Amino acid sequence: MKLILLLALILSSHAYAQGGQGHQGGMHKGDHHGGMHGGELDAATLKQFFEPLPASIIDEKKNETLIKLGRMLYMDPRLSVNDKIACNSCHQLNKFGVDNEPTSPGHEGKRGGRNSPTTLNAALHIAQFWDGRARDVEEQALGPILNPIEMGMPSEEAVVNKLKKIEEYQDLFPKAFKDDKDPFQYKNVGKAIGAFERTLLTPSRFDDYLKGDKDALTADEKRGLKKFVHMGCATCHNGIVIGGNSFKKLGLVEPFETDDLGRYEVTGIESDKHVFKVPSLRNITKTGPYFHDGSVETLDEAIRLMAKHQLGRQVGDSFIRDVKAFLGSLTEKGKE
Ligand code: HEC
Ligand code: HEC
Repeated sequence: MKLILLLALILSSHAYAQGGQGHQGGMHKGDHHGGMHGGELDAATLKQFFEPLPASIIDEKKNETLIKLGRMLYMDPRLSVNDKIACNSCHQLNKFGVDNEPTSPGHEGKRGGRNSPTTLNAALHIAQFWDGRARDVEEQALGPILNPIEMGMPSEEAVVNKLKKIEEYQDLFPKAFKDDKDPFQYKNVGKAIGAFERTLLTPSRFDDYLKGDKDALTADEKRGLKKFVHMGCATCHNGIVIGGNSFKKLGLVEPFETDDLGRYEVTGIESDKHVFKVPSLRNITKTGPYFHDGSVETLDEAIRLMAKHQLGRQVGDSFIRDVKAFLGSLTEKGKE
């Protein structure tokens, strides 16, 4: 059923997507251009693809101390070997959970090969990292602390011993892990940071729209949403975080040049070469540069490359402009 609907949508969209080519450079306000006769996607279609963000995914009252501890650890550069790098260095909460760099400098200034994805809404993804090698945010958080080019701590024991000597933690760990005989365990660092990350949800105007407030999006944004769905972007970028829920090949239709083997490095399965987790598009206008290696500087270019490599389609300026307008509606309300 879903598939049939989708095919119908893609086929019916073909004509106007082509038509969009001829409109480059023109100003198009309102719903009057070629083949786009007004109207919005109906509620049933929206429901097929998208779901609003839940109000909460962790009991913030019950887990108050755990979350407080997690936040403190997230912000604390003492989790790194030279007291210089915190989670927040690469995933800055006042920069939508990223550092806006193609790749990120670690404790010695060395950079890895991948772009820092945002921690906002990440707890809702099916798995963590571009290749999905960590199951959840709790497991993920334990990686960077020991990663030699990120935070560079030599061992789990070294982390625990360091935290034990810090007054705030002497107080908070036992309170947050009341039931543990030994609250100072490395895995508890991950549990606390993970709990904090579960609070990092960013409701947007698009959520209001999905919940029925038809005025929550502008005419441009609605047109962009329609193009996004009709073109087929939503076959991969869908669900609660508009992505984050599947793994797909980069260069599905037209090969994309990259040395990164992606998910193949996790599974060893041939068909997983150059497969990546489909990124969430929430806050996407704020989290550039783009792609797993940060090689794509602008959102315009990211949209154009996606259409070309994932869908085998050439898109013009009007498509890019409208889809970008829609993507802007995915930014956290009040921070647009
Ligand atoms: C030196 C920069 C750096 C630091 C420090 C760092 N990260 Fe990351 N983080 C990255 C990069 C780069 C990736 C992507 C790596 C990959 O996919 O292979 C990433 C991935 C993630 C993800 C996965 C998000 C997703 O969409 O898959 C989460 C969550 C995350 N980091 C949280 C943290 C936490 C928590 C800390 C602190 C304990 C931390 N990071 C420290 C650079 C950093
Ligand atoms: C077949 C699945 C698929 C389709 C269809 C698809 N994408 Fe993507 N998209 C991906 C994957 C996978 C990535 C990650 C690319 C990478 O790792 O370098 C991505 C990345 C992106 C990014 C960059 C995200 C970031 O954080 O760097 C944007 C923006 C984007 N897609 C928008 C779109 C738009 C707009 C369309 C429709 C024109 C579209 N995508 C169609 C799978 C898809």
